[in-house]
Amino acid sequence: MKKILLLSFLISSFIPGYAQRAMHRPVVSLIPVPASMVTNQEVFELKGRAVIHINDSRLKEPAEQLAARIRTGGGFKVNLDESKITPAHALSLSLVKDPSIAKEGYKLKVTSKGISLTATEPAGIFYGIQTLLQLFPAEILSKTNTDAEEWYIPGVSIEDHPRFAWRGVMLDVARHFFTKAEVKDFIDQMVQFKFNTLHLHLTDDQGWRIEIKSLPKLTEVGAWRAPRTGRWGEFSKPTPDEPKTYGGFYTQEDMKEIIKYAQDRFVTIVPEIDVPGHSLAAVASYPELTCTTDSVYQVNAGERFMIWPGNGTFYGTIDNTLCPANEKVYVFLDKVFTEIAALFPCEYIHMGGDECYKGYWEKSEACKALVQKEGLKDMHELQSYFVKRIEKIINSKGKKMMGWDEILEGGLAPGASVMSWRGMKGGKEAARAQHPVVMSPNEYAYVDLYQGDPVAEPVTYSMVRLNKAYQFDPVPDSVDAKYILGGQCNLWSERLYTMRQAQYMLWPRGLATAESVWSPAGTKNWDNFVKRTEHQFTRFDVAEVKYSRSMYDPIFTAKKDASGNLQIILATEIKDLTIYYCFDETLPDNFYPAYTTPLSVPKDAANLKVVTYRGKTQVGKIITMPVAEMKKRAKIN
Ligand code: ACM
Repeated sequence: MKKILLLSFLISSFIPGYAQRAMHRPVVSLIPVPASMVTNQEVFELKGRAVIHINDSRLKEPAEQLAARIRTGGGFKVNLDESKITPAHALSLSLVKDPSIAKEGYKLKVTSKGISLTATEPAGIFYGIQTLLQLFPAEILSKTNTDAEEWYIPGVSIEDHPRFAWRGVMLDVARHFFTKAEVKDFIDQMVQFKFNTLHLHLTDDQGWRIEIKSLPKLTEVGAWRAPRTGRWGEFSKPTPDEPKTYGGFYTQEDMKEIIKYAQDRFVTIVPEIDVPGHSLAAVASYPELTCTTDSVYQVNAGERFMIWPGNGTFYGTIDNTLCPANEKVYVFLDKVFTEIAALFPCEYIHMGGDECYKGYWEKSEACKALVQKEGLKDMHELQSYFVKRIEKIINSKGKKMMGWDEILEGGLAPGASVMSWRGMKGGKEAARAQHPVVMSPNEYAYVDLYQGDPVAEPVTYSMVRLNKAYQFDPVPDSVDAKYILGGQCNLWSERLYTMRQAQYMLWPRGLATAESVWSPAGTKNWDNFVKRTEHQFTRFDVAEVKYSRSMYDPIFTAKKDASGNLQIILATEIKDLTIYYCFDETLPDNFYPAYTTPLSVPKDAANLKVVTYRGKTQVGKIITMPVAEMKKRAKIN
C-alpha cells in the first residue's frame, strides 16, 4: 500500500498539471444523447467554493436548484453571483439572443477556465443544467453530504435541443395513490432526463384523486376503497359495510403546490379525467350518473370486474360508465371541467375515452332513444356523440381536448388531439386526418409491463423489454411529422403498490423513452445506450432510486424438436454476457457450464437455473425456470 502511495505521489509531482487533470477526467455519458457534442481534453475543477453567475433574474430558480445539488451532494459552498461581469472560474448561466439556438435548446461549454451555459429562454438553461449534472460526479445526486474535496467536470462543447415538444411520462395515481411528496420526487427524477410533461391519470374505477369543490362526494366517497394486498385482479369484492380506508386525493391547494413545483422545473402537468368508461369511483360517489340503477356501486378494490376473453374484446360485470343519454352527466362534467380548467395551466385536458364497455348502454332505453333521435349507427357513434359534447364543454373553458385513441371510433371530435396507445395505428389515422397526436404505443412505451421473463418479475401483463422500449420512434413512416407532438411512456399503477416499485418499472425503460423523444432521429445505437444506461445505474445507486437490472437476464424460448422433445434456447439482449446454467437444483455461478447451444432437458429434471455474468462479474439474477413452464410454452403435454 505504501509503495502505491509513494508511486502515485511521484507520478503526480512529475507529470504536468494537464496530464494530471486528464487522469481525473471523468467519463462523458449522457442520456438523452445531445444533438451535437465535441469533447476536449480539459477538465474543470471544483474545489471548496463554486460561483454560479446568472445574467437574468429568471435564472435564479434553476441556478438555486443547481446550487442546492452542489451544496447537498458535495458539501461545497456555493455563491450565486448576479454582477455585470462574469467572475473567473464560474459556472455561468446566461440568457442570450442567439438565433442558432432552437426552442428549449442550449449551448454548453466546459473548459478548465469555466463553464458557460447559454440559451434564449430559461427552459434551455434548465436543460443545459440537467446535462451539466450528468457531467458532474454521481455524488451530486446524493441526498446526504459526501464531503467531497474536489470534483472534476470533463471538457465538452455541446449544442442541444429536443426533437419533440411533448416529452411525457404518465403516472397513474388512481389505482394506487402517490403522495404530494412522492409526485414531487417523481418530477425530480424525470426532469433529469429532460422529460417536460407529467400526465396524471387522476380518476379511474379504483379512485378519484382530485378535489372538485362543487362535487364533494367525489373525494369523500370516490377517493377511498377497501384495502387489499397481494395479487391485483384476484382480490375479494368488498362488502358494502367494509371500511374504505385505502386511498387519498390531492386538495386543490395540494395540486397548486405540485403544479408550481413542476413549473419551476419546466414540467407541464396534464390532468386526465377518464370518462365515460373507467368511471366507477365517480359512479360510486354519484350513482345517478349511470344508465343502470339496480347495483350497489363501490370503488373497485382490485377485484376483477372487466373480463378480457383474449380476443381483444372485453365486457364489464358492473356498470362503470357514465350514461351518455343522461343530461345530468353533462352538468356533472361541466362542473368537473370548470374546476379542472381553472386549476391546471396546461392547454390540454385529457378526457380518457378508453376501454368503455357499452353493453349497459345497449340495454338502456334512454340510450336507444338517443341513438334514434341523433340518427346514430351504433354504440361507437354514441360514444363519439358523448366525446363531441365533452369537447364543447372543455373548449368552453378555454382548453383543448385530448383523449386515448378510442375517441377515433364513431368519428373524431373536430378539434381533438389523440394519444395513441393501442400501437401506433390510431395515431397514424389521427395524424392523417390532420389532428395532433402524442404517441404512447403499448408495445414500446408501456412501462408497467414485464421487462424480463415473468417467472422472475413481479406479476403484470405483457412484455416490453428495454431493447424494445429503445426502438420507439414517435414518427411512423408515411405520417407528416408536424402532427406528432411527441411521445410518452405510461406507468399504470394497478400493481404498483409503492413508489419504489414505480421506480423499478420506470427505470431504465424511461431512459429509452427519454432518448426517443429528445435526441435527433437516426442517432440511436443500442450497444452505446446500454453502456450509458449502466453508467446511470451507478448514479441511481447514489441517488437511492430503484431501477431494474432485468436487461441482464436471459430470454427463454421453448421449442418442440422434431422428436417432440423440449429444447430451451437462451439469449441475452446485451452482448458480451455469458449465461451459466444447471438442472441440478443448486445455484449456478461462473464455474458452471456456459450456455452455447439449445439445451435438452435431462430426464426427470424439474428446473433449469440460469445466471448471467460479464467476465467474472455476476450481472444477472439467478432465475429458476420450471421445466413444466417451458413445456407449457412449447405446447408439450
Ligand atoms: C389504456 O391503456 N387503457 C389507455
